[in-house]
Amino acid sequence: MSKKIYITIDGPAGAGKSTVARMLARRLGFQYIDTGAMYRAVALKALRTGVDLNDEAALAELAASAEIRLADGPGGSIRVFLDGEDVTRAIRSLEVTKNVSLVARAAGVRSELVRRQRKMAGAGENTGNGTGTGTGDETGPPGVVMEGRDAGTVILPEAQFKFFLTASAEERARRRQKDLQDEGREVPLARLKREIEERDRLDSSREVAPLRPAQDAQVIDCSRLSAAQVVEIIASRVGGKTG
Ligand code: DC
Repeated sequence: MSKKIYITIDGPAGAGKSTVARMLARRLGFQYIDTGAMYRAVALKALRTGVDLNDEAALAELAASAEIRLADGPGGSIRVFLDGEDVTRAIRSLEVTKNVSLVARAAGVRSELVRRQRKMAGAGENTGNGTGTGTGDETGPPGVVMEGRDAGTVILPEAQFKFFLTASAEERARRRQKDLQDEGREVPLARLKREIEERDRLDSSREVAPLRPAQDAQVIDCSRLSAAQVVEIIASRVGGKTG
C-alpha cells in the first residue's frame, strides 16, 4: 500500500491560501479540501436559522446536523453543498465572512468538523472516537492538499509537508478589495484592513486551535509573490522530497 501524501496549507485570511492550495492540488492531481468553506457553511446555516452565535451548544448541535459536501467544480474549483443546496456563492457573502469567526471558535463545532475533515482526507482514524469506516482510500488521489488554519497543527499533525502562508495586512486587504471589485462590489481599503486585523485577532487568540504555524511548518511570506510563484516554491519542495 502506498502511503498518501498530505500537504497542509495554513495561514491568516487573505494570504492567498485558497488560490495556492487549489492550483497545487490540481497540478499534483491531489484531492483539495477547503476546511474554511465548512466553517462558512455552518455559519450560513446558523445565520439562516437564527441561532445565537454566542450559544456554543446550539452551534455544535447545528454543525452535527449539517450535511456538508465538497464537490469538484470547473477549473479545479470546488462547489459547496449544505443540506443538498449549492451554497458556493452564499458562503462568501460579507455577512458570513463577518460572523464566521464566532462559529469557528465554538469547541463543539471544531471537534465535529475536524472529525469530518480527517475522514474526508482518508486519514487513519486511530484516535478512538468511534467514527469507523472511510480510512485509506487506495483508489482515490495519491494525496491531499488541506487548506485552513489548523490543518497542520490539529487536523493532520502527521502531514509530511506543512506550509504556513503569510502576507502583510495591507497586502491582504488589497487582494480582498480586488476580489470584491471583480464581483462588482466597492469596499474601502481601510475597512477591509480593519476587518482582516479583527479576524486575525479572533482567530489567533481563541482557546481552541488558535492560528499559529505548526512547529514543523515552513513559513512563506507571500506579500511579494504571485500565487503561481508560491505554488512553484511548494511544488519544488514537495517534489524534491518525494520524487
Ligand atoms: O479561510 P476562510 O476565510 O474561508 O475561513 C473562514 C473562517 O473559518 C475564518 O474565520 C477562519 C475559520 N477557520 C478555522 O477556524 N479553521 C479552519 N481550519 C479553517 C477556517
